[in-house]
Amino acid sequence: MHRRLIFSSILSLAAASVIQRPLLEPSDSQALINTKPLVSSNAIQDDISSSKLLERAKHLYKLAKLATDEYNHPTRVIGSKGHLATIDYIYSTLASLREYYDISNQTFPAVMGNVFESRLVLGHSTPKSAGPMSLTPPTKNKEPVYGPLVLVANDGCEELDYPANVTGSIAFIRRGTCPFGTKSENAGKAGAIAAVIYNHMQGNLSGTLGQPSEHHVATFGISDTDAEPFIKKLQTGETVDASAYIDAIVENIGTTNVIAQTKGGDPKNCVMLGGHSDSVAEGPGINDDGSGSLTLLEIATHLTKYTVNNCVRFAWWAGEEEGLLGSDYYVSQLSEEENMKIRLFMDYDMLASPNYAYQVYNATNAVNPAGSEELRDLYTGFYKAHGQNHTYIPFDGRSDYDAFIRNGIPGGGIATGAEGVKTEKEAAMFGGRAGEWFDHCYHQLCDTVNNLNLEAWELNAKLVAHSVATYAVSFKGFPERTAITSNAVPERSLYHGPKLVI
Ligand SMILES: *[C@@H]1O[C@H](CO)[C@@H](O)[C@H](O)[C@H]1NC(C)=O
Ligand SMILES: *[C@@H]1O[C@H](CO)[C@@H](O)[C@H](O)[C@H]1NC(C)=O
Ligand SMILES: *[C@@H]1O[C@H](CO)[C@@H](O)[C@H](O)[C@H]1NC(C)=O
Ligand SMILES: *[C@@H]1O[C@H](CO)[C@@H](O)[C@H](O)[C@H]1NC(C)=O
Ligand SMILES: *[C@@H]1O[C@H](CO)[C@@H](O)[C@H](O)[C@H]1NC(C)=O
Ligand SMILES: [Zn+2]
Repeated sequence: MHRRLIFSSILSLAAASVIQRPLLEPSDSQALINTKPLVSSNAIQDDISSSKLLERAKHLYKLAKLATDEYNHPTRVIGSKGHLATIDYIYSTLASLREYYDISNQTFPAVMGNVFESRLVLGHSTPKSAGPMSLTPPTKNKEPVYGPLVLVANDGCEELDYPANVTGSIAFIRRGTCPFGTKSENAGKAGAIAAVIYNHMQGNLSGTLGQPSEHHVATFGISDTDAEPFIKKLQTGETVDASAYIDAIVENIGTTNVIAQTKGGDPKNCVMLGGHSDSVAEGPGINDDGSGSLTLLEIATHLTKYTVNNCVRFAWWAGEEEGLLGSDYYVSQLSEEENMKIRLFMDYDMLASPNYAYQVYNATNAVNPAGSEELRDLYTGFYKAHGQNHTYIPFDGRSDYDAFIRNGIPGGGIATGAEGVKTEKEAAMFGGRAGEWFDHCYHQLCDTVNNLNLEAWELNAKLVAHSVATYAVSFKGFPERTAITSNAVPERSLYHGPKLVI
């Protein structure tokens, strides 16, 4: 608080133009801070340029390459050298700004999985859509296992759904009602040697088992159409011989969130924003989420030229791709008092998709903590002011805002699109190619520096700067925090992180 006192005494000194001594002797660094101008949206937006962002992206790609000896390609997945180097880069950049920020590491336990090889044979065929679920254990001894396919009753969410002869067999389970992890666990408890979950709606099925369990068995997902002939056979009493093979590891590791908070500004009223420092194992993740995490780093650097009225807290989350591990952990560790200091959380994940749309999370006060809608409207106002179109996308638990809104903290964010297909209408609104993914390299090896749309990135980085500056100056008109629980709890989502869980 005393910093504000000094600040206001300097202001009144200027206004009254009489010589006054400040009540408190400021240290040198405080004196420096206090000669800086108050941040303004226009000023910090002008500090943003795509060339500086691109330079950071090129550096990040170099860091991803450090994982090549272990993964055979660049990646920044948690536990890899690429991710460790990313955390070092973020931390050391901030450390050079330590006059301005308090920096902390938050290390937490995480699980990581890697599937090296897999194969599923049903009868005499290999279903094209069959793929291992993320965080699946291997089959026994990492060898193929053989047994009859046994149809499980209902959705396989109850132990009673599993007939006795599932023991030693491969359980065939319909998607729905409960998480994939629960089905795999039930199958394991019933003695199954592997499990196959088939889609109950049209399309391929891939997802994650989530938090490992000692009862999980090697688990695949397959499409409705691939499953259909086998369901028919089993229902008419025919037997289907099957074999399953997964070579995979599931490991417990430690990984780290990095947090930086301005020393200046009211610490009881914090503007918080985050992006994730990790990528998937499949690639270097330069758009997902290099674009977001580097934007934060760039803005954290520029912000040091200004003072703030409200505290600004940046977070670089780890383990997002494994199911929002870092942000979940962070929020779980907040005391009630600390929780209440966070006025809002802004999520910045994928800001530069090559076939981009300007997407705003449709966060509303009707179903999310009050303030979420004001934030949404700040974003749409920004796009309008820049003569750009935007679309609303579901605020459905796929990124790091999830734990915040579940714990009473208003949230929101923007994105430029992942594996969704751009419509004709969206191509008219944003340019680009209809009928193709917003990011055709989403979660793949080709998510490199070449995968970035610099025009979208620069505008979105300015939007992030605008959001920080706006709330760092004032929360006027923004709802007060009232509770650490949300009375408007969102419906149970099919996602927790980027992967399906149910
Ligand atoms: C935080 O993590 C960074 C990056 O790994 C490391 O360099 C730094 O020493 C750590 N700082 C503290 C205080 O543990
Ligand atoms: C479903 O999986 C098959 C086999 O891997 C693939 O050829 C097809 O493109 C996938 N469909 C979609 C919509 O992703
Ligand atoms: C397993 O048991 C169920 C019902 O008890 C039966 O319908 C099915 O044919 C059996 N499957 C095999 C492979 O024995
Ligand atoms: C946004 O969310 C609100 C409240 O959940 C809903 O009524 C509205 O239809 C949604 N708008 C769009 C464009 O999805
Ligand atoms: C916004 O979308 C409309 C079509 O809905 C299009 O005519 C217009 O050019 C778009 N504006 C920009 C800046 O792309
Ligand atoms: Zn992401």
